[in-house]
Amino acid sequence: CGIVGVTGNPNAVEILLNGLEQLEYRGYDSAGIYVNDQKGDDYLVKEKGRIADLRAEVSADVHGSTGIGHTRWATHGVPSKENAHPHVSNDKRFYLVHNGVIGNFTELKETYLQDVTLVSETDTEVIVQLVAKFAREGLSTKEAFKKVLGLVDESSSYAFLLLDREDPDTLYVAKNKSPLLIGVGDGFNVVCSDALAMLKETHDFIELVDGEIVILKPTSITIEDPAGQVVDRKPFHVDTDPAQAQKGAYPFYMLKEIDEQPGVMRNLIKEYIAEDGSIKIDTDLLKAMADSDRIYIVAAGTSYHAGLVGKELFEKLIQVPTEVHVASEFAYNPPLLSAKPFFIFLSQSGETADSRQVLTQVNQAGYPSLTITNVMNSTLSREATYTLLLYAGPEIAVASTKAYTGQIALEAILAKALGVYKQIATIKDFDVAAELTKAANGMQELVDEKGKIEKIAADMLKDTRNAFYIGRTMDYAIVQEAALKLKEVSYIQTEGFASGELKHGTIALIQENTPVVAIITDKKTANHTRSNAQEVKARGANVLYIVSRDLATPTDQIVLPEITPLLSALVAIVPTQLLAYYASIQRGYDVDKPRNLAKSVTVE
Ligand code: G6P
Repeated sequence: CGIVGVTGNPNAVEILLNGLEQLEYRGYDSAGIYVNDQKGDDYLVKEKGRIADLRAEVSADVHGSTGIGHTRWATHGVPSKENAHPHVSNDKRFYLVHNGVIGNFTELKETYLQDVTLVSETDTEVIVQLVAKFAREGLSTKEAFKKVLGLVDESSSYAFLLLDREDPDTLYVAKNKSPLLIGVGDGFNVVCSDALAMLKETHDFIELVDGEIVILKPTSITIEDPAGQVVDRKPFHVDTDPAQAQKGAYPFYMLKEIDEQPGVMRNLIKEYIAEDGSIKIDTDLLKAMADSDRIYIVAAGTSYHAGLVGKELFEKLIQVPTEVHVASEFAYNPPLLSAKPFFIFLSQSGETADSRQVLTQVNQAGYPSLTITNVMNSTLSREATYTLLLYAGPEIAVASTKAYTGQIALEAILAKALGVYKQIATIKDFDVAAELTKAANGMQELVDEKGKIEKIAADMLKDTRNAFYIGRTMDYAIVQEAALKLKEVSYIQTEGFASGELKHGTIALIQENTPVVAIITDKKTANHTRSNAQEVKARGANVLYIVSRDLATPTDQIVLPEITPLLSALVAIVPTQLLAYYASIQRGYDVDKPRNLAKSVTVE
């Protein structure tokens, strides 16, 4: 979910709606705003569906100078108008938006709210009704809010914005685990889940720490720690140009972001590699990595897939044993760790709750860590020992593309730097700047072939129910991401399979015309994968070959530009991203906002 708030600005309605539009990637099944004009008029507007639907509901007379807003990714309760936020207490005094999950809400309801009729199925409504109850019993709003926060159990996550109709220019703000930033305006202040939402209003933001509460007024920001002590914290400046978060002439963000990948490679070279080829990465980080005996990469979704390639880079280039783990599994079933582990968190957003759960444990155990992320000052970046930024520009489409290739490129740069630091003799043969330049040029060649891929998608994927991607070794890592891309935006049931493993069961699913895409960039296993492709072809499959130039035959449909095999993912993924994009469009879907998903999932 995404939340926004503003106090002290007569343009509150537009600021909230704009902000929610920018946050829509965090959830888009329902949305709402509450605004108050300080003169006695207030408005609560909620709608099921997208922000555009909410905007259509907001009439010209809805106005105010303070307010809160929310775009929802449903956890408790179906997407509906009733379950949409803001939630309101029955006495219509308190309004609340929430990002996160209250673990013990049923218990709280049973203990304290036996006599209150709840109108929604949400955990959030319990909180606002509780604040109202304690206020009725005589507590001030701040005291009531703090009392409720004290009742919420350890497992819970929240970013809350609370408004009291009787004191409507004040926002009560609190956070635990869920991301939240205060934006500093001139004569007004804002609050948001992500700086992107408020870049039109301000570029200066104050980060919050778990457990703090903030009293936000038009001209003052008071942050208190859990002991009630006032905290003094300076804002940080976000340079991002809000135009970067617009899609310009592109029909969809996903296409824009696929096209931006050559530029992301060049940016990474510019940011991390000096003219003389030396790498600009803090030696403290390299030392901490060199002092460790094993790398643990922890991530979710597409970032996890970028980690699979990272493992190959760290092991093959510099012989550092590396494990890759899905964050939500690692958090509750960690493997036996080596004596000196070093953790790398890969996260486009830097906010994924599953990954953060692991980082919290890693910090408690005192292990060193690095976050590789696209978002400066994000939670995972603040809480890890070290951060490396992707400089990919905002990624808005829910399906991640440029962050994946950016993460892989940055892992390659890091492996190179660590190899040099550890004086590994063979690392001099890996010219990372030259390889990433090749990647950029190769990606450009591929994105220039869109028409060809659009046609293949129409022929192969338009009406299919399922599809398979197959590959071995590095290509197995790549097909897992290729399959995720296709399934998440086209809803075609797609698996990425180790091609040798197909015959041990999954081949039973192959029928006449089942699409199977074979990715072949690994010389050792090229012939094996070709044989596996023949096996499915013999059973009726419709096979598409995506093959490196040096391994290609004249009948292979997509031939990949040259690059070192260790970085073949950077080029091989591009046609698969485009296949996913076109399959989604051809099947009539909103490719940027696939059903049921959110870009940044801040609940476990
Ligand atoms: C969500 C998104 C995925 C993303 C994953 C991890 O599930 O829909 O596209 O890969 O989160 O996100 P992160 O920001 O941690 O890379």
